[in-house]
Amino acid sequence: MIDDAARVRRPAWVRTRFGLSLSALLTVLVLGGLCGLGGDAPDVSVGVGIPAHREVSAGLARTPPMGWNSWNLRGAAVSAVDIRAAADALVVTGMRGAGYRYVTVDDGWMLPTRDEHGTLIADPGRFPGGIAALARYVHARGLRLGIYESPGRTTCQGRPGSYGHEAHDAVTFAAWGVDYLKYDACSYPGLRPAGTSARAWLVAGFTRMRNALDATGRPIVYSINPSSSGDPAGERAWSWASSVANLWRVTNDHAPCWATVLPMDYYPGVCTSDSFDPASAWASEGGPGHWNDLDMLAVGLTPSAVNPDVENLASLATGRVSNQLDDTEARTELSVWSMFASALIAGNDLTTMSPATRTILTNRAVLAIDQDPLGAPASRRGGDSWDGLSVWTRPLAGGDTAVLVVNRGDTRRAADLPGSPLALRANPAGYEIADLWTGRLTRTAGTVPTLSVDLAPHEAALVRLTPVGRTAG
Ligand code: GLA
Repeated sequence: MIDDAARVRRPAWVRTRFGLSLSALLTVLVLGGLCGLGGDAPDVSVGVGIPAHREVSAGLARTPPMGWNSWNLRGAAVSAVDIRAAADALVVTGMRGAGYRYVTVDDGWMLPTRDEHGTLIADPGRFPGGIAALARYVHARGLRLGIYESPGRTTCQGRPGSYGHEAHDAVTFAAWGVDYLKYDACSYPGLRPAGTSARAWLVAGFTRMRNALDATGRPIVYSINPSSSGDPAGERAWSWASSVANLWRVTNDHAPCWATVLPMDYYPGVCTSDSFDPASAWASEGGPGHWNDLDMLAVGLTPSAVNPDVENLASLATGRVSNQLDDTEARTELSVWSMFASALIAGNDLTTMSPATRTILTNRAVLAIDQDPLGAPASRRGGDSWDGLSVWTRPLAGGDTAVLVVNRGDTRRAADLPGSPLALRANPAGYEIADLWTGRLTRTAGTVPTLSVDLAPHEAALVRLTPVGRTAG
């Protein structure tokens, strides 16, 4: 077991610039342990080493987090200039107003070694003011700052990981003013002791940081990516992660392409439509405080402004170069991510995006599906494929229902989808149907609606059904 509390040393900047008292924190850690404040930490054989204080993060992420992340655009070259530009753009484009709040610095932000106190150091060339100054900049714009780390000894880009430093790093992040941590398995599975199951090892590693974050007393949204472990247990995070994290990746890295066509068994789930079939396994696991994460949106990523690693991934999956989603596919992607109540984390260049991309990302009627306060899961209708269409329904707060129909194929498809197989209940006065992309409103004649769709290749219809005459509440 790693005794993290024993390793914590108080960095100079905590003493001088922040109100967080490390001695108070250590007292809480010790008392918490004595009082058995283990809370809902999973019972794993490898132990987690830091007492849980779940009350700190209990109210976080009641709806899926929305924001922007640096990886798809800047890769490991990310700088404070990029983060400030994204923060400013979130404000001026109206994205902040539409709900995008978290600005996350992904991998590559730190120097290859810790300082003499064991504290992580942001690369001074790219982050001259450090992370605390960046947090102040982001907070001043009504936004929140996210940062990236790994439970392994190194991150995916070879920077120092948090293994054995969890409590120290959590205190560092809290003192800097970080509001969100993306914690990415990377090298961690390779540290697994003989005789420990892969799953228990993943659960323990991710739980250690959850506990460390909560022990700081600062509410920090916790986003985990066990899928980067390359371990099948990691790729089923939905079966164990809800008591550990606020969101967990359900796919491997996502890139700007519609469908994987080349053999990618070693790296599944790259393109937008790849997640439709596997979704049946995890769709029911999300809910307030704990969400499935389909990875950053590829909406608006262009061949001229994309991290080459991400473009390479799309090329491997499609056999083509210069991949990107067209606007139809981008609308479908946002529809699917919203229907599954995924985190909505944009990754495109917000400072140069086209008006069409901006319109897609800020469609409030669609975002309201993602952010629906009920947080109920979507269910697949009509088996794996209904007349060539993928169909999902989802109950919404107040009695409305969302229906998503996606044409995955390469030819146009029209269909009338009867309401009963969609599990829509009869309503004597019928239904009002709002098409969330065109804004068109129609009323059904019958008591159970029939949905008529006519979809271009890769197009989605996302509609909201409201029973006419329904009384509020
Ligand atoms: C993994 C993650 C990506 C990104 C990179 C950074 O591949 O899945 O989202 O964070 O690591 O190295």
